Amino acid sequence: MKKLKSIGLLLIVSIMVLATAACSGNVSVKSSSKSEQGASYNFKLAHITPTDHMWHKAAEKFKEELESRSGGRMKLEIYPASQLGTEADMVQQISAGSVDFGFITAAYLSSRAEAFTAWFAPYAFKDLQAANEARDTEIAKKILATMGDQGIKGLDYLFAGSRVMLFKDKEVLKPEDMKGLKFRVTPSPPLQEFYKSLGASPESLPLPEVYAAIQTGVIDGMDMDLDSAITNKYHEVVEYGAVTNHMVWPAVAMINKASYDKMPEEDQKIIDEAIKAAADYSAETRSAQEEDFKKTLSDEGMNIYEIDDELFQPYIKDFDNKFGPADPLIQEFLDTFRK
Ligand code: BEZ
Repeated sequence: MKKLKSIGLLLIVSIMVLATAACSGNVSVKSSSKSEQGASYNFKLAHITPTDHMWHKAAEKFKEELESRSGGRMKLEIYPASQLGTEADMVQQISAGSVDFGFITAAYLSSRAEAFTAWFAPYAFKDLQAANEARDTEIAKKILATMGDQGIKGLDYLFAGSRVMLFKDKEVLKPEDMKGLKFRVTPSPPLQEFYKSLGASPESLPLPEVYAAIQTGVIDGMDMDLDSAITNKYHEVVEYGAVTNHMVWPAVAMINKASYDKMPEEDQKIIDEAIKAAADYSAETRSAQEEDFKKTLSDEGMNIYEIDDELFQPYIKDFDNKFGPADPLIQEFLDTFRK
């Protein structure tokens, strides 16, 4: 009798585990058959930014859109602020299917799939709106598709402003003033090369280490976006902010490819439309905040100024000559947007 009870209990637990798995986004990766029409999903999404950054707000918008468009069948749990590790860890988890979605910087991806370098062509877009419109072009989609051989489907791009240059205590007025500065640059080949060509000494520091590094004088300045400058309170330790907007700053929304491919078309459509709504929200909201962000930093005591784009012309040419021939997709991107 006791034995029968244990078998019964084991059976119930097994059924519960299977039922939970069948409802999760992750289990679908392991089976090759199509998910059922009307299936329920418990998805996970990871990204690196704090909860007051635009990408987290976009993740919340995506969650809301998924839940409402699916009539509650799709649930999303968000893991912000590197809770699941570095971007390298997150991409590995998405590729393996233990995490469903990621918002991963194109800067990081440029070190895994070279074509993402294209997005860092300096001064390729006149403003964020123009970059946002580029999301819909063939070349932007071809670049997303290069993640396919890593088991990942690139869904869309989310823009959190453009890059600016922050300096601890030197007012840099022209590219030549960068010479010899120890300058924090995201660990990404195109960004590092751009700053090397300006004569700076790029220091490859991840975001969480930047505040202490500039405070203690380990670095003289940093490449950053205005959103992060505010959320990380760099105005406390930085005197000068040159709003150059020299490069755009996309995150790539991605999903485990096997998981996506086995969903019914109806569910793929919900995901595509929900992410599009989140990406539109991100770019539109962020575009409207530009002046407010500059004012916030200025009110906090940072000297905010601009540097004439024309002064960067020789460095733009260096970039195009170096990276265009390295990859046909980068060349196609440059041919499309440098007019
Ligand atoms: C950075 O490495 O500069 C960065 C990363 C994610 C969001 C914003 C900035």
